[in-house]
Amino acid sequence: MANNDQWQSRIGFVLACIGSAVGLGNIWRFSYMTYENGGGAFLIPYFVALLTAGIPIMLLEFGVGHKFNSTSVGAFAKINKKWEALGWWPQLASFGLMSYYMVILAWALSYVGYAFTGAWGGDPNAFFFGNYLQLSSGFWDLQGFSMPVIISFVLIWIINYVITVQGVSAGIEKACKIFMPLLFALSIIIVIRGVTLPGAWEGINWYLAPNFTKIANAQVWVAAYGQIFFTLSVAFGVMIAYASYLPRKSDIVNNAFITCLANCGYSFFMGFGTFGIIGYMAKTQGVAFQDVITQSIGLAFVAYPKAIDLLPAANTLFGIMFFTALIFAGLSSSVSLIEALASGLIEKFDMPRKKAINTIAAVGFLIGLMYTTKAGLYIFDTVDQYVAKYIIIMVGLYECILIGWIYGSDKIRNYVNPLSDFAIGKWWDVCIKYITPVILGVSFVQLVYGDLVRPYGGYPWSGIIVFGWGSIAAVIIVGIVLASKPWKSDVLSRPVEEVQE
Ligand code: PHE
Repeated sequence: MANNDQWQSRIGFVLACIGSAVGLGNIWRFSYMTYENGGGAFLIPYFVALLTAGIPIMLLEFGVGHKFNSTSVGAFAKINKKWEALGWWPQLASFGLMSYYMVILAWALSYVGYAFTGAWGGDPNAFFFGNYLQLSSGFWDLQGFSMPVIISFVLIWIINYVITVQGVSAGIEKACKIFMPLLFALSIIIVIRGVTLPGAWEGINWYLAPNFTKIANAQVWVAAYGQIFFTLSVAFGVMIAYASYLPRKSDIVNNAFITCLANCGYSFFMGFGTFGIIGYMAKTQGVAFQDVITQSIGLAFVAYPKAIDLLPAANTLFGIMFFTALIFAGLSSSVSLIEALASGLIEKFDMPRKKAINTIAAVGFLIGLMYTTKAGLYIFDTVDQYVAKYIIIMVGLYECILIGWIYGSDKIRNYVNPLSDFAIGKWWDVCIKYITPVILGVSFVQLVYGDLVRPYGGYPWSGIIVFGWGSIAAVIIVGIVLASKPWKSDVLSRPVEEVQE
C-alpha cells in the first residue's frame, strides 16, 4: 500500500518539519532580504506575515494532510477529482526549487573545504565569481561546467539520495534528529561570536531599528510575505505530505505553532550573528554600514569569507563552523523537497519508494547540471524568481480559496481542534478566507507588473522567457499530464477521516 511509512515520534515529526523550514532561507536569504529591505523595517512586515499568513497556512496544510491522510495530490483529488493537478503543482515547484537548492548546498560544501585553507585569499568576491563559479558573460554563454562546483554537486546528491531512499522514519526522521541539534549548537556559537565583536551593536541596532518610511513601501511587504512562505516551506506540498505521515491521533495545532515559531525565531536569532558581523566589518574597514555588502547572492559566500578573514582569532574554525551549519540547515530542507514529489508519485502510482527516488534523483541531477555551468548563476537566479515567487503565490492563493471557501475552512478547524493540545478560533478562518488571499492577490499583481515593465535582474528577455516563464509552463503542463493518468493505488476509495471523538 502506498505511503504507509510513519513518523516514529512526535519530536521526530516536529524536527523534520523544522528541518524542512529551517534552511538556506533562514541564513542566506533572510539576511540579505533584511539587509536589502531596510533592516528593522523588514522585521515588522515579516512578523505580521508570519501571524496572518504563515501560521494560518501551516495549520491549513497540517490539517489537510492529516485529515485526508494524503499528500497534496491525493487530498485535492479526494475533494474533487478535477482538482488533482492543483495538488501536483506545489510538488513540482518543490522539484524545481530542489534542482538549484542542491547547487547552493554544493557551494557550501566546497566552502567548508576552502575554509580550511582560507582559499579565497584577500578577495573573496573575485574568488567566488571568478575562480569558483567562473561566471561567464551572460545567459547564453554557458562555456562548459565549473569543475569545483560539479564535484560538490555530485557529493551533495549522493547524501540526499542515501537519506531519502531509506524512507520517512529510517531516513528523514533520523537525519533530522542528528542535523538539527548540531545546527542549533553551531548557530549558538556563531551568534555569540558575532555579537561580541567590536562594532557589532551598531549593526544590530540597524537590524532592530524600524524605519517607518520603508514600511510604507508595498515592495517590502511583498518581499516579507514571499520570505515567510519560502522559509516555512508552505505551498510546496512538503507540509501536507509530512502531516499525512502522522499517526491518526496526533496534535496538529500546537505542532504547527512550534514549527513556525521555531523557524522564525531561529532566523531572528541568526540575524544577530550576521548583523553583528556586518557591523564589525563596517568598523574594521571604515566603511558605512550600508556599503559593506554589494551583492545579495554573495552574502554567504562573499561577505562571510571576508568577515572570517577579519576575525581577530580562530578564523579557520569559525569558517568551517559557518559553512557546516549552512549544510546541516540545507540538507534537512533538500530532503523534504525530494520527498514532496516522491510522496505524490508513491501515493498515486503505487510506485516503490526506490523507483520514485531514483527517478527524481536522475532527472533532478541532470536538470541541476545546468546550474553548474558557467552561466549557471544567471539561470538559477531567474528560475528562483519565477518558481519560488510566482508559484508559491499562486498555490497559496488557491489553497486559501478552495479550502477556505469551497471546501470550507470550518471543516478543517473542527477536525483539528479536538485532536490538538489547544484549539484555534474563528480568527483562523478570517485569515484563510480574507486576509491571506487579499495580500497574495496584491503581491501577485505587483510581481507581474514589476516583471513586465522591466526584465527581472536586467536579464535578456530570451533567458527570462525560456527559464522563467518556461519553468512555470513546465510545472503547469507536467502537473496536468500527471493528473490525467489513471490511479494505480486505491487511495481515492479510502474513506476520509471524520471528526474524531
Ligand atoms: N524553507 C526552506 C529554507 O528556508 C526552503 C524550502 C522551501 C524547503 C520549500 C522545502 C520547501 O531554506
